[in-house]
Amino acid sequence: MKNKKIIAFLSAAILVTTMFAGCGTKATTDGAKATKTATDTSKKKVIGFAQVGAESGWRTAETASIKTIPTLDPTFELKFSDGQQKQENQIKAIRSFIAQKVDIIALDPVVENGWDTVLKEAKDAKIPVIIVDRGVKVSDQSLYAGFLGSDMEAEGKKVAKILVDKFGKDAKLNIAEIQGTVGSSAMVGRQKGFKEGIADCPNYKIVKSQTGDFTRAKGKEVMEAFMKSDGNNINVLFSHNDDMAIGAIQAIEEAGKKPGKDIFVVAVDGIKEYFQFMVDGKANATVECNPLLGPQLLDTAKLILAGKPIDRWVKSKEGVFTAAQATAELPNRKY
Ligand code: AHR
Repeated sequence: MKNKKIIAFLSAAILVTTMFAGCGTKATTDGAKATKTATDTSKKKVIGFAQVGAESGWRTAETASIKTIPTLDPTFELKFSDGQQKQENQIKAIRSFIAQKVDIIALDPVVENGWDTVLKEAKDAKIPVIIVDRGVKVSDQSLYAGFLGSDMEAEGKKVAKILVDKFGKDAKLNIAEIQGTVGSSAMVGRQKGFKEGIADCPNYKIVKSQTGDFTRAKGKEVMEAFMKSDGNNINVLFSHNDDMAIGAIQAIEEAGKKPGKDIFVVAVDGIKEYFQFMVDGKANATVECNPLLGPQLLDTAKLILAGKPIDRWVKSKEGVFTAAQATAELPNRKY
């Protein structure tokens, strides 16, 4: 009898425990469901960013700036893809963003052409695309919502103006040009603007011109070849970015010449490291190209998601710096 009572008590206890355990599990599950629902309703807006690569100091600064977006606004999430300077990688990244149903795609295109098909896929999926930094050439302008970045042609013209201001229109200049990535809007625009800017300088001659793909290593390689074939003739270097100029400065020194003195060095970007070369007298000027595009990209994305109009071209603000300003400006450089 006593045993029967004990068994009955234990069975009841087990039943009650199981019931409460069941309730506990149910409560937890429901709680989890409730939390999930709450998260769903406050779902973060996702920006998928297809970056060019990591070829320069400028690029690293741009990536860092765009990666601040979730910190600037925690209701946003950023998915990042490094295209390693290959268009096919960027196209794959865009397709993956479309499959993941991101809210906005931001594309920094390595080259201008060849985007129509994938941008049409994004449009069909109703995902707005913001083109960042470098432009695209597409047959249908409605394939992207807007462009955020610099005026590359204006940058090329500013480089030309630096030479005209320094040497005068009638000077005899033998210019070596190290181009950026062939087919990129940065390379096409800077070259075009520069040529236009020196058009009425009869003795400004571009004696050498080759791509250094925007990298320091290739800039050095290209300048080594220039110095071997025409080192005594070249008196100006126009490099489409600071990194290639830094590589070229090494090549000029290794060829026994003084960069900044024997060869006037002018570039584009305005990275901190190049400012140090100006301070040291090895480089003469740079035209600023602003990579700190994260805050403007966020603002543009917010406007689009709120259904508000955006400027077709959101231009970044930029200056020009010479070696004379470099010491004062160096501590202010943010990239
Ligand atoms: O598109 C911007 C250019 O790309 C920058 O001038 C260069 O440094 C970068 O790699």
